Amino acid sequence: MNQTVQQLSASRKGILATDSTKGIIRRFEAAGLTFAPELDKRYKELLFNTNNLENYISGVILNDSNIKIGLGEILKQKGIEIGIKVDEGLESFNNTDEQITKGLEVLSERLENYKKYGATFTKWRGVFNISDIHPSDNFISENLRRMADYAKLVQDKGMVPIVEPEVLYDGNHTNARCEEVTTKVLKKLFDILKEKDVNLTNLILKSNMVLPGKDSGVTMMPLEVSNSTLRTLQNSVPNDVPLIVFLSGGQTSEQAIFNLNEIVKLNIEKKFGGWDLTFSFERALQEGVLDVWCGKEENVSKAQEVFSNRLQKVSKARIGEL
Ligand code: G3H
Repeated sequence: MNQTVQQLSASRKGILATDSTKGIIRRFEAAGLTFAPELDKRYKELLFNTNNLENYISGVILNDSNIKIGLGEILKQKGIEIGIKVDEGLESFNNTDEQITKGLEVLSERLENYKKYGATFTKWRGVFNISDIHPSDNFISENLRRMADYAKLVQDKGMVPIVEPEVLYDGNHTNARCEEVTTKVLKKLFDILKEKDVNLTNLILKSNMVLPGKDSGVTMMPLEVSNSTLRTLQNSVPNDVPLIVFLSGGQTSEQAIFNLNEIVKLNIEKKFGGWDLTFSFERALQEGVLDVWCGKEENVSKAQEVFSNRLQKVSKARIGEL
């Protein structure tokens, strides 16, 4: 297995996602702050300079502007792998209301450049919205074809691709429908990855947990979430894939961490697949940190304490010992 994948699979550790560009603006606003690049830099410095970050975090996903202002340097000094989100967001799919991921144009040149900033792994996110008629078959195929082309290009450059087909938590669908769509999307993804000759042992899957829609009014217990999530992965992800990481997708920090704990625990007991499992949360790891910081220097250590407590908790969940 590639050394980067091994590093990212370290026990008790997971991946911190900090790459959102629209989401971070919304989170700043919710905390009463106006987003500005300088303030964003100070916020990321607060996160990355948190004491003992390297004991809980094996890799951090940055975005284009953050990597270019040298934020990766702090991570490199702590022995943390530098990741970079390389997709360029969404565009309309064939003039329909489905939103497909773009970013393949000049990707090869961009990857060369990110390598110069120390990036060893990359992320590409595709989103799949659930309704009675969505996602459509054509949309699934084209969105995943682009994802597989990305993965191949990244491996050709000697980096590790994270493929993230996110079935969205938004909506009022049932858990069974989420399982049906997630299984279909993942099966198709691995069919296309094989067709394109992508090396599965040098790739990381970033998946949603299988949950009833956020607006369905149904809350599932962690044990039910773990059963449906692991069944879905067992039915669709080849054992050659070394590592599956979960996104939090809009769950609260509490929900995402307890669900992760139960998923890991059940997989240790019943061994659903050959892959290792950990977290790659953005919102669920950072919940509350911005509100405590409020952009003020005097609040930095209090905000870091909130973040640090969260890291200690998720690190236990990563080994099913919460
Ligand atoms: O692409 C999604 C992010 O990397 C994970 O973010 O944990 O807030 O869903 P989230």
